[in-house]
Formats: sequence, C-alpha cells, structure tokens
Amino acid sequence: MREVVAVSERVQETPSTVTLRFAYPDEARPGQFVMLWIPGDDEIPMSLSYVGRSKGVTVKVMGSTSRHIQSLAPGAQIGVRGPYGNAFDLAPRRVLVVAGGSGAAVLAPAAEAAARVGSEVTAALGATTGSELLFEARFRQMGARVELATDDGSIGARGFVTGVSDSLLASTIFDAVWTCGPEVMMDKVIRSARRAGVPAYGSVERVMKCALGMCDACALGPYHVCVDGPVFPGDALTPLPEFGRFKREPSGRVVPH
Ligand SMILES: Cc1cc2nc3c(=O)[nH]c(=O)nc-3n(C[C@H](O)[C@H](O)[C@H](O)COP(=O)(O)OP(=O)(O)OC[C@H]3O[C@@H](n4cnc5c(N)ncnc54)[C@H](O)[C@@H]3O)c2cc1C
Ligand code: FES
Repeated sequence: MREVVAVSERVQETPSTVTLRFAYPDEARPGQFVMLWIPGDDEIPMSLSYVGRSKGVTVKVMGSTSRHIQSLAPGAQIGVRGPYGNAFDLAPRRVLVVAGGSGAAVLAPAAEAAARVGSEVTAALGATTGSELLFEARFRQMGARVELATDDGSIGARGFVTGVSDSLLASTIFDAVWTCGPEVMMDKVIRSARRAGVPAYGSVERVMKCALGMCDACALGPYHVCVDGPVFPGDALTPLPEFGRFKREPSGRVVPH
C-alpha cells in the first residue's frame, strides 16, 4: 500500500533524534520498515518505531533528507509505502536486546511485542552520551531490565554497549539476542552471542531505492536487504566480507563503513 498521510505528532526524543507519528492503517510487524517520501526531497527507508494503527518513525540526523524529515511539524504531508521486509520472531522466552544509538528505534517495538506475549526482556542501550540514549523510559515501561552504556561515561557504564552485553551474556541465560546499531557493534554482539551459544539476529541498513527486490541497490552478499531482511540471523551476516566493513553509496560505489 502507499498513501500520503499527515504527520500527527512530532516528539524530540534526544538532541539528534525525532519521532514522527502518523495514521497508516496497514498492519506492520516489529522489524519492518516503510519507504518515506518527503515531497520536494527524496524517498528513504525508515524502520517503524511504532507499529500499531498510529505508526511512527524515529529519525536521527545524518544528511539533508533526515534533517528535512526532522523539520516537519504536525500537519505536514508525507508519502508512505510499505511496510516492507521481514520481522523479528517474537518467540524467545528470555531475550537480550542490544541497541547502539538509534538502533533502539527498531528494537523497542519488537521488545514491546515480545514483553506483551510474556517474554523477559533485558535491554542493553548504548549511546555516545547520556542525552542521546534513546527510549530508555519506553524499555523500562514495558518491564524490561535496562542496562546503559555511554562512550563518555555520563550515564551507565563508560565505553561501548558491547561491554555491557558481554557481561550480561556471561551472567544470564538468554534464548535469543536482537541487535541493531553500527555494524561493527552488531558484528561483536553476534560473535559474543555465538560464543555463549545464543542465536543472534541483527537488523541491517543498506541504501534502498525500490524496496521490492528489483533494483539491487541494497545488495549485501547474496541477499537483498529489502526483501531477505532487514532482520538476518547472525550466522548469515558474519561470514559476509562486507558486513561491518563496507557499504554501497547510492551511486553503487563501495566505501568503507
Ligand atoms: C531498513 C532501513 C531502516 C532504517 N531505519 C532508520 C531509522 O529508524 N532511523 C534513522 O534515522 N535512519 C534509518 N535508516 C537510515 C535512513 O534510511 C537514511 O540512510 C538516513 O536517514 C540518512 O539519510 P540522509 O539522506 O539524511 O543522509 P545521506 O545524505 O544519505 O547521508 C549523509 C551522511 O551520513 C552517512 N550515513 C547515512 N546513513 C547512515 C547510517 N545509517 N549510519 C551511518 N552513517 C550514515 C552517509 O554515508 C553520509 O556521509 C534506515 C535504513 C534502512 C535501509
Ligand atoms: S532496494 Fe531495490 S532491490 Fe532492495
């Protein structure tokens, strides 16, 4: 489905991150994304940070289009198509969620849905600094155990969130690990989970144009991230030479992460 909808609410989540809410009736599952078209600008993929009837995207400023999206006020018109891609399997009884920065945007609705069906959720949230921690209150509200890490030590453990997730994997039994964030971080999380004998799943990002498996813009090894992902088993990701190392620009040029 595709539709032009009006932004119903704008929430400044952190200094660099904004959530836009809008009514969009199509059913969506946690982990899926939409293609968001900003009239007069570009169309870019965005994970759904809210998947109910009132949907939401949570956008971090990276370049001109994300800055434009953040500037939209309630009432602004946006084009939405989708939802696309696969979703997290909500079956694990004890799940560890490891989010780097805005990665919490895709993991929060999955964790919420898992908690609703009885999963015990532990969330390791990382950010550069305390004010950039995303959805800490939302994870606490769903009843999750929450552990924090910041690069500058302003809140929680000082250093990368992988330090926190490694300690949790050493001390607690989990049935699955879900991760989203910088690929270098996800690569470490997946490898640590494998050593602990826990299956891990990562949500990955690539440039997308069609979102239909036709244009090849989102190629990652043998996969099209738009239809085979964005959620992949860790065992499918870590053998790929480009995972955590290279990505493609919109022109198709391969550049280091
Ligand atoms: C399935 C999927 C889901 C996504 N979900 C979200 C989401 O929930 N929230 C969100 O904010 N973004 C999300 N993105 C990323 C988003 O689509 C855009 O890539 C991002 O907003 C930057 O677009 P831009 O045009 O503003 O910047 P561009 O002009 O494309 O990029 C500006 C600069 O930022 C760099 N850059 C772009 N994207 C990234 C990135 N992801 N990580 C690191 N550097 C980057 C570029 O290399 C460039 O140097 C998702 C992408 C995919 C494929
Ligand atoms: S975005 Fe076109 S194939 Fe995935």
